[in-house]
Amino acid sequence: MFKLLRYLKPYRLLVLSVFILVFLQSMSELYLPTLMADIVDIGIVNGDVPYIWKIGGFMLLVAVIGMSVSIGASFLASRVAMGYGKLLRNKVFTHVSNFSLQEFDKIGTASLITRTTNDITQVQQVTLMMLRMMIMAPMMGIGGVIMAMSRDTKLSLVFVVVIPILAVLIILIASKAVPLFKVMQKKIDKLNLVLRENLTGIRVVRSFNRTAYEQNRFDDANRDLTGTALKVNRLMATMMPLMMLIINFTTIAIIWFGGIRIDNGNMQVGDLMAFIQYAMQIMMALMMMTMMFVMIPRASVSAARINEVLDMQPEIVDSEIVKPFAQKKGVIEFKDVTFSYPGAEQPALQYISFTAKPGDVTAIIGGTGSGKSTLIHLIPRFYDVDSGNVLVDGVDVRELSQEALREEISYVPQKAVLFSGTIADNIRYGKEDATVEEIEHAAAIAQATEFISQMPDGFESTIAQGGTNVSGGQKQRLSIARALVRKPEIYLFDDSFSALDFKTDAKLRAALKEETTTSTIIIVAQRVSTVMDADQIIVLDEGKIVGIGKHRELMSTCEVYREIVASQLSEEESA
Ligand SMILES: Nc1ncnc2c1ncn2[C@@H]1O[C@H](COP(=O)(O)OP(=O)(O)O)[C@@H](O)[C@H]1O
Ligand SMILES: [Mg+2]
Repeated sequence: MFKLLRYLKPYRLLVLSVFILVFLQSMSELYLPTLMADIVDIGIVNGDVPYIWKIGGFMLLVAVIGMSVSIGASFLASRVAMGYGKLLRNKVFTHVSNFSLQEFDKIGTASLITRTTNDITQVQQVTLMMLRMMIMAPMMGIGGVIMAMSRDTKLSLVFVVVIPILAVLIILIASKAVPLFKVMQKKIDKLNLVLRENLTGIRVVRSFNRTAYEQNRFDDANRDLTGTALKVNRLMATMMPLMMLIINFTTIAIIWFGGIRIDNGNMQVGDLMAFIQYAMQIMMALMMMTMMFVMIPRASVSAARINEVLDMQPEIVDSEIVKPFAQKKGVIEFKDVTFSYPGAEQPALQYISFTAKPGDVTAIIGGTGSGKSTLIHLIPRFYDVDSGNVLVDGVDVRELSQEALREEISYVPQKAVLFSGTIADNIRYGKEDATVEEIEHAAAIAQATEFISQMPDGFESTIAQGGTNVSGGQKQRLSIARALVRKPEIYLFDDSFSALDFKTDAKLRAALKEETTTSTIIIVAQRVSTVMDADQIIVLDEGKIVGIGKHRELMSTCEVYREIVASQLSEEESA
């Protein structure tokens, strides 16, 4: 919680103003009962009407000032808290944008979203409350006691009895509520997770008739959360009436003993009235303290979760001295690379060495889980190697700036991703200042022109969120167009032709070859027909290279390759 407060720095002047205003407000509230006592004890007792008017007018003035500063404090405090929340969200978002894929794997997307929304809102609310109460509560509490004692010291003994009782009550309730709040936060996370899985996987849920099962899963998480929330709220709800009860008994005690003292001539009526008001103010201060006792631990749970994100340092960062490219050609070289995912028992890639040259097509083929995608991920430095080197144009990727490195690369992921917006927007994602001609040209090479022209608004047709209104093959072609519009030195296609039919696949690759004569192309594929005419084919098996060469050579030297070819031929023959 306190660590996050450093982000309040830009608001320090506003915070100071809030504190000053709240201070003034507390002063005016503490002053009012005294003035009232004066009116009663001096003005009314002596029948001095001008005095009553004078002090009464003064009271009105103090009240108006108190109200104005209170409004001012609220206004400024809201500004600070909302601005602070905005700043925090921004910080978390920017920080997360720099995460490498490893960090995403660690926290999980659902939790990252809850942390940026729910947790920050929590901290924001508590900040707002704290700004108003942090000064107010002690001022009113301590000030109230001092003022009450100055009215009548003996009667103040009532507080000696009441305040310990209240303190015990507060500590009891807070010690029960705080752990519950912590649990609640976890349960909100869980609910979010179930909800997210359900919404993103709705097609699978429907097709496997698991709606009822998922409903139950959601119900469980929901009921769990509701149960905890109910418990907490019941606890908090009992607190209010209990406090009121104690306050009312306190008032009775004050009037009782005060009455006796007035009877004996030790106290005046106005003093008693003022005394009761001070008692109320002290109780209010205690209530504020309770709120803080409960809210702060709750927010500190949220704060810890936010800090966890902010403290997580991306493992992949630019090195201190980044090397510039000597020449931008697009030569990729793997030198004895071994890589394992964090926590994995076996390396996903081992002893990988090869060179991919500009103008050539390097194809990677292998069974699922053989490490093809992993290999591709190492080139734009999504992950860092355990040993060995990945070189681009002769420089280790760890010595390049990530931006410069990725500028040279167009990557088409295995699972095509489109953003909400128009088709043109999505293609332009590859190159911000792409002209209409460039976009259309890229679409043409990607064999996307035909289906785009059949859409109602052509290139201006909108893609639904998650790209649900285009087919898998159409999605792939759009994300290929997005990569093409960039005209980079290096193209990485991770199984990007899998959803295309043989004819489109062939046409696309032919057009691609004409377009990219000077670029380095790496194609991951499952189909032999896709890789057959590549300049070099790399056969991967369980993370190791078991063959490199052209189709012909591999057919005579590589057992694994022959098996792949054989299995696909028989498939086609039987089909
Ligand atoms: N993010 C990840 N964390 C841990 N292990 C992973 C991750 N991604 C892939 N793997 C593992 O690495 C191996 C290679 O996966 P991958 O490169 O995706 O294979 P391919 O693309 O050839 O199907 C698999 O055994 C897979 O379980
Ligand atoms: Mg893959």
